[in-house]
Amino acid sequence: MRYVLSLLVIAVMVAVQTSPAAAMAGYRETFQKEFLSEPWAGDREESDACIECHASDIIKSEFRAIPTEWKQSWHYQNDVSCHSCHGGDPKDAATSMDPHRFFAGTPKPAQVPEFCGKCHIGILKNYQESGHGMALKSSGKGPNCVTCHGSHNIQQASIDIINEKLCTKCHSYERSKVMRQALFLTEKKIEELNNRLKQLKTEGMAADEEEKSLFGTYGEFRALFHTEDVSLVKKRTDEFTAKLDIIEKRIQDLFDELRFRRNVSAFLALIFMGMGAVILLIAKTKKT
Ligand code: HEC
Ligand code: HEC
Ligand code: HEC
Ligand code: HEC
Ligand code: HEC
Repeated sequence: MRYVLSLLVIAVMVAVQTSPAAAMAGYRETFQKEFLSEPWAGDREESDACIECHASDIIKSEFRAIPTEWKQSWHYQNDVSCHSCHGGDPKDAATSMDPHRFFAGTPKPAQVPEFCGKCHIGILKNYQESGHGMALKSSGKGPNCVTCHGSHNIQQASIDIINEKLCTKCHSYERSKVMRQALFLTEKKIEELNNRLKQLKTEGMAADEEEKSLFGTYGEFRALFHTEDVSLVKKRTDEFTAKLDIIEKRIQDLFDELRFRRNVSAFLALIFMGMGAVILLIAKTKKT
C-alpha cells in the first residue's frame, strides 16, 4: 500500500511541475551572462604597463585620473583596455608606446570616428553618412563620438544623451526633440516586452523565438539615432512599433498557454489525489 501511495505522490509532483528542463536552461544562461562575462571570471591580463605607469607620478597631474575614469566605464567591464583603443603593447613598459607596437597616440577630433569605428562598424557608417559626419568632415563643426559619449568614462548609451544642454551647443533643439520623442516610445515598448519575456523565463516557459526577434529589433533600433535623419527615424520607429505589436501578441499567447498548463496541472493533481483517496478506501475496506 505504501508503495502505491508514494508512486501516486511522485505522479502528482511530476504533473504539477511544468517543464523543469526549460527552467534549468534559463538558469544556466543567466549564470553565463551574469558571471562568465565578469572581469574576474575571464583571463584578464595580470599586469598592464599602460595602466601602472599612467596612474603613477611620472604622468602629468591632469592625465593621471584617466585610469580611474576608465575603471568606471562600460568598456572596462567589457575588457576594452588602453591598448584596445590607443594601440601599443601593455606587456612591455619600455616599448609600449612605440609606433612599431602599433601605438596610435591620441586622435585629433576629426580622426575620432574612425578611431572608435574600428570596433563600432555599423555606427561608424551611419554616422559618416549623417549631417553630423558630413559637417565634421567638411568644416570640423559636427560633433564626433567623444562630444556625446566622452572618451574614458563611456557608459551604456541611452536616449538621455539627447538633451537640451548638449544638443543646443551648436543648433536649436527643435529636431533633436522630435527624434527623442519618437525613440522614447519605441524604447519604452522594448523595455516592457523584455520584462515580460524575463517573467515568462522565470516561469520556465521557453520563448527563444520571441527573444531573438526582440533582440534583432532592438539592435536595428539602437543604430538608428546616428543617421540624424528625422524623417527616417520617424518612419522606422513606426515600423518598429508594428513589429513590436506582433511580438507582444505572441508573448500574450505564451502567457495564455502558461495559464492553461497550470490549470491542467492543477486538474491532474486533483484527479490523482482523488484516485489516491479511493485506493486508500478500497485498501482499508479490504483489510477489515
Ligand atoms: C574607448 C577608447 C579609449 C580607451 C579604452 C582609452 N582611451 Fe585614452 N583617449 C581616447 C580618445 C578618443 C582620446 C582623445 C579625446 C579625448 O582626449 O577625450 C584619448 C586621449 C588620451 C590621452 C591624452 C589626453 C589629452 O587630453 O590629450 C591619454 C594620456 C590617454 N588617452 C590615455 C589612456 C589610458 C592610460 C588608457 C587606459 C587606462 C586609455 N587612454 C583608454 C580613447 C580611449
Ligand atoms: C613607463 C611609463 C609609460 C608606459 C608604460 C605607457 N605610457 Fe603612455 N605616456 C607616458 C608619459 C610620460 C606620457 C606623456 C604624458 C605626460 O606628459 O605626462 C604618455 C602619454 C600617452 C598618451 C598621450 C600622448 C600621445 O602620444 O598620444 C597616450 C594616448 C598614452 N600615453 C597611451 C599609452 C598606452 C596605450 C600605453 C600602453 C600600451 C602606455 N601609454 C604606456 C608614460 C607611459
Ligand atoms: C550627437 C551625439 C552622438 C554622436 C556624435 C555619437 N553618438 Fe553614439 N549614441 C548617441 C545616442 C543618443 C545614443 C543612444 C541611442 C539609442 O539608445 O537609441 C547612442 C548610442 C551609441 C551606441 C550604443 C548603440 C548600440 O547599437 O549598441 C554606441 C556603441 C555608440 N553610440 C557609439 C558611437 C560612436 C562610435 C560614435 C562615432 C562614430 C558615436 N556614437 C557618435 C549619441 C551620439
Ligand atoms: C577595441 C574595440 C572598441 C573600441 C576601439 C571602442 N569600443 Fe566602444 N565598445 C566596445 C565593446 C566590446 C563594447 C561592449 C559591448 C557593447 O555594449 O556593445 C563597447 C561599448 C560601447 C558603448 C556602450 C554601448 C551600449 O550598449 O550602450 C558605447 C557608447 C561605446 N562603446 C562608444 C565608443 C566610443 C565613443 C569609442 C571611441 C572613443 C569606442 N566605443 C571605442 C568596443 C570598442
Ligand atoms: C558640436 C556641434 C553639435 C552638437 C553638440 C550637436 N550637433 Fe547636431 N548638427 C551639427 C551640425 C554642424 C549639423 C549640420 C548643420 C545643420 O543641419 O544644422 C547638425 C545637424 C543635426 C541634425 C540634422 C541632420 C540632417 O541631416 O538634416 C540633427 C537631427 C541633429 N543635428 C541632431 C542633434 C542632436 C540630437 C544632438 C544632441 C545629442 C546634436 N545634434 C548635437 C552640430 C552639432
